[in-house]
Amino acid sequence: MRNYSNQETENFRKRAHDLIPSGAHTYSRSDSVFSENAPAFFTSGKGAICRDPQGREFIDYGLSLCSVTLGHAFPDVTEAIKHQLDLGNSFSRPSLLEGELAEELLDLFQHGEMIKFSKNGSDVTSAAIRIARSYTNRDLVIRIKEQPFHSFNDWFIGSTSKSGGVPQVVKDMVLRGSYNDIEVIKNLFDAHPGKIAAIILEPMTFEEPKNEFLQKLRSICHQNGALFILDEIITGFRWDLKGAQHLFRVEPDLFTIGKGFSNGFPCSALLGKREFMELGTLEGPVFLLSCTNGAELVGLTAAKATLKVYKSQPVISHIWEYGKKLMEGMDRLIAQYDLRDIIKIQGYPCRPGLFFHPTEFATMLELKTLFVQEMVKGGVLMDQIAISFSHGEKELSKTLETLDSALNVFARAIKTEDIKGCIEGKTISPVFHY
Ligand SMILES: Cc1ncc(COP(=O)(O)O)c(C=O)c1O
Repeated sequence: MRNYSNQETENFRKRAHDLIPSGAHTYSRSDSVFSENAPAFFTSGKGAICRDPQGREFIDYGLSLCSVTLGHAFPDVTEAIKHQLDLGNSFSRPSLLEGELAEELLDLFQHGEMIKFSKNGSDVTSAAIRIARSYTNRDLVIRIKEQPFHSFNDWFIGSTSKSGGVPQVVKDMVLRGSYNDIEVIKNLFDAHPGKIAAIILEPMTFEEPKNEFLQKLRSICHQNGALFILDEIITGFRWDLKGAQHLFRVEPDLFTIGKGFSNGFPCSALLGKREFMELGTLEGPVFLLSCTNGAELVGLTAAKATLKVYKSQPVISHIWEYGKKLMEGMDRLIAQYDLRDIIKIQGYPCRPGLFFHPTEFATMLELKTLFVQEMVKGGVLMDQIAISFSHGEKELSKTLETLDSALNVFARAIKTEDIKGCIEGKTISPVFHY
């Protein structure tokens, strides 16, 4: 593919904004969530590296919203898909692969007795909520207020600041608990006796579960006749091959997987106990994840090939080890520049989180913008940190070298209290407040 000039790229950008609300089909890929100098588009990716239209290369720590866990254009996956393409992609009866992959995933996840596939994380988490509501004959759901996303569907998005178009009755159906705060959850159950269908949460984002928080949540749910649902769209295939539920020894009634097990190709799944999943049979009351492309074979083939790599190569341990080195290296540099009060790197090595603490003269988003901007200058796209099997020593040392230069600028801006003056363009803005 030829390289485009800066002007041509800007023209593409203008055209995209003219035709697509916010210029991108996923909000978190849009211009507003990156610094202005970030690549406007990506045209290709290989391993841990992505290329923009001008031919610039970036180490990718976004990995398509954390979904490309093996690396871009990973040969085992692309070869399997190429082979499948010649055999057809979508039929009017199920494929054999649907059953094969179902069996493989149910063997992997101890707490899954039945499974249903779909194409994205939003739909499978919504399906879990629908089953819980149907099973309990209740409407209320608890979600955790510190966790940013479960679904683009009404039940979840109605509980965020971007809730336009969601009926008030739907908005009123979601209650907000707090992570690691069991008392808040107990109070919600006490305040709404016999009304709560389920709790849904990610087993962990950047804060570790404390004092058996997940096990206690599960017990409270069951004492109150509610279902305990884990959203493992990000944690599955990253914390552990068998999910964070395996690492934390906790047993969900229903759980979802998505990003991670098909290396960026569309495949997601709802799994859970037979007692609940059976509500979604044709004889049962729940219309469960039935859509035209639900079992198309590119996604399923990608999932099968990705799982094969996970099982035969040390994908999970690589992600953890790389993350550990990255966190240590980053923390060392942050300390060296005396920025530990402002930039914090937290979470587990398999998914480090970057946090910026506001100062009197700069907001959290201004600090983040300057950081992302300076990393982009060195060829590292790090608005968040997702690590793949393809991130290696070369990427690690280039990342830390770039960070050194970025923190140099950052530390000077802190010293002169002029973060705003160092931002070249607009400040990052979040998609919504959750
Ligand atoms: C934890 C979690 N659950 C669900 C989703 C929704 O997945 P999708 O974007 O595939 O609909 C996301 C997406 O960011 C997520 O991070």
